[in-house]
Amino acid sequence: MDVLKEISKRAKEVDGAVMSYLQEGDVPKLMEAVKHYPAAGGKRLRPVLAIAVANAVSGAGKKAMPFGCSLEIIHNFTLVHDDVMDNDPVRRGRPAVHVLFDMPTAIIAGDAQFARAFEVLTETDVPPQHVKRLFRITANTVWLIAEGQQEDMDFEHMPAADLAIDDYMRMIHKKTAVLFECAAEGGTLIAGGTEKQVAAMKEYARLLGLGFQIHDDVLALTSSEEVLGKPVGSDIRNGKRTLIVLHALHSLDASDPRRRTLEKALGNDGATPEEIKAAIRALDDSGSIEYAKKLALDYAAQARKELDVLEESEDKEFLKGLIDFAVGSRKT
Ligand code: IPE
Ligand code: IPE
Ligand code: MG
Ligand code: MG
Repeated sequence: MDVLKEISKRAKEVDGAVMSYLQEGDVPKLMEAVKHYPAAGGKRLRPVLAIAVANAVSGAGKKAMPFGCSLEIIHNFTLVHDDVMDNDPVRRGRPAVHVLFDMPTAIIAGDAQFARAFEVLTETDVPPQHVKRLFRITANTVWLIAEGQQEDMDFEHMPAADLAIDDYMRMIHKKTAVLFECAAEGGTLIAGGTEKQVAAMKEYARLLGLGFQIHDDVLALTSSEEVLGKPVGSDIRNGKRTLIVLHALHSLDASDPRRRTLEKALGNDGATPEEIKAAIRALDDSGSIEYAKKLALDYAAQARKELDVLEESEDKEFLKGLIDFAVGSRKT
């Protein structure tokens, strides 16, 4: 299976539905701001995941479409606010919402998307005993994302010595992996799966999500803005305590020139592009990028095992392929 092709095919199937849920509204400026990121594309991984899981469990993929769209709208809401928090001016190759419009509009557009996502959720055809649970896990997911995002910001101001790798893992679990978990749990519930399947699919998605975010932090240093569609190196300027940065700051001693190069740019709003590049080279030289790549692959290998709970199917193969895509072959 050509996973890249398969993902873009499945993403296209979701696109129209996502956009159809973002048409209703009376204030043109708000509607434009709400549609700005969704219309720019994106991989649509969360709906694609929810639908593939529902298909793999009982061929119920179609039933998972509104749920998947709801998650994609939630995802887009968090991106609008994330770009404000991270002060990032570009997303999906376009100006960020707060740049194209203004800060207040970005706040309101995110809120509006959040509300619309729950309206869309009411359209989900889920077994009646699971309706409340689907709403609860989705709402709780947004709460956990907020916790993860708060920690992500708070960590910027903490000395690396006070932060363990486990703190980073907890933070990315909340800011990123929980939405993947929600997609997998919801997809299984919609498909009428067993609790054993729910647990395995959720664990698969947790591991996938962790690997995905670690790899994302690698791409945010090693790719280019043209390819990635978002700024490269801004994690350094913002002083983000990514796995890569923590590994370097935990392993290089104070006199190491690579450490000094990194510290010169890390959290330095005025760092020049050359200083950022030098910091990225220092992270590479110190083996920290390799370390992160390897850890992402470890999570990927663990995720694969969880799929044993599923019968053989094309969608199960797709879920396997999704792992390699998330932690390795993807360019964006
Ligand atoms: C970006 O997510 C935010 C993270 C959790 C790293 P994606 O990489 O899935 O973004 P899009 O939707 O494809 O743009
Ligand atoms: C990803 O945040 C998590 C959320 C948006 C909730 P990041 O800040 O790490 O992701 P990018 O790099 O901006 O997409
Ligand atoms: Mg960001
Ligand atoms: Mg962020």
